[in-house]
Amino acid sequence: MILPALQISDLTKDFGGLRAVDGISFQIEEGEFVGLIGPNGCGKTTTFNCISGMLAITSGRIEVLGQDATGMRPDQIQSLGLTRTFQHTWLWREMTVVENLLVPPRQQFSPNPLLALLRPGSRKAEKQRVIDAYSVLDLLEVTHISHNLASELSGGQSKLVDIGRALMSSPRFLLLDEPVAGVAGPLAERIFQSLRALTSDKGIGMLVIEHNMDFILRRDVDRIIVMDAGRILMEGTPNEIKQSRDVIEAYLGNQGQMQ
Ligand SMILES: Nc1ncnc2c1ncn2[C@@H]1O[C@H](COP(=O)(O)OP(=O)(O)OP(=O)(O)O)[C@@H](O)[C@H]1O
Ligand SMILES: [Mg+2]
Repeated sequence: MILPALQISDLTKDFGGLRAVDGISFQIEEGEFVGLIGPNGCGKTTTFNCISGMLAITSGRIEVLGQDATGMRPDQIQSLGLTRTFQHTWLWREMTVVENLLVPPRQQFSPNPLLALLRPGSRKAEKQRVIDAYSVLDLLEVTHISHNLASELSGGQSKLVDIGRALMSSPRFLLLDEPVAGVAGPLAERIFQSLRALTSDKGIGMLVIEHNMDFILRRDVDRIIVMDAGRILMEGTPNEIKQSRDVIEAYLGNQGQMQ
């Protein structure tokens, strides 16, 4: 029996009187590439914060790669094989790209590369990490910026380096929070192509938050999950979503983002 990479059952998260996530359930198979979309404030990032163990959930169950991850700490969830990125990309500005990859936040708390720097490793392991860093940069087709300072990068390049940093933990599942927000069209498309290749070639499952419905509908994703006001409004293939009037109305009603 093939177990889902991620199984979310009846997940609810309250902030005081505000129910930010309202009993959502979904599952994602290994190697599946799924988009998560919904209007501002509908609960997408909160869902990621719950899955990755950063927020204590109000109720529900989270299974990661066949294991019950409910109530686990972020670092424990990462050791199961699930890594995430953050909506606001944070890099060490005065370090080069390859150095940023060598000091990834090994625990999934807010990045604290100093702790990683202090953690000793054997020379052989350190050498292997350097080799891994260059192969990740090669995979993402950004070896030409390996020695640029992070402060010199464009927004899109920074997003790619952030994805590269997530890949350094050899994840089996990735949660990416708006990996192309603010990135110019052609580079945003290329980033999505790289993500598609990672799911197809390496079998890494992915759930990717994107705020632009028009953009995600044109990408090569297997499925799209649409959230609205803490709930799942619909899930289906891009074609199925396109045909759904509920989704169109939710978008037009909230933001008019659907074009
Ligand atoms: N730590 C928190 N404390 C209190 N309220 C929060 C907290 N985090 C999020 N919220 C609230 O929960 C709701 C969902 O927020 P969330 O950030 O998950 O939305 P989102 O779908 O990611 O939105 P965006 O598209 O703007 O990133 C919002 O009303 C937000 O204000
Ligand atoms: Mg968000």
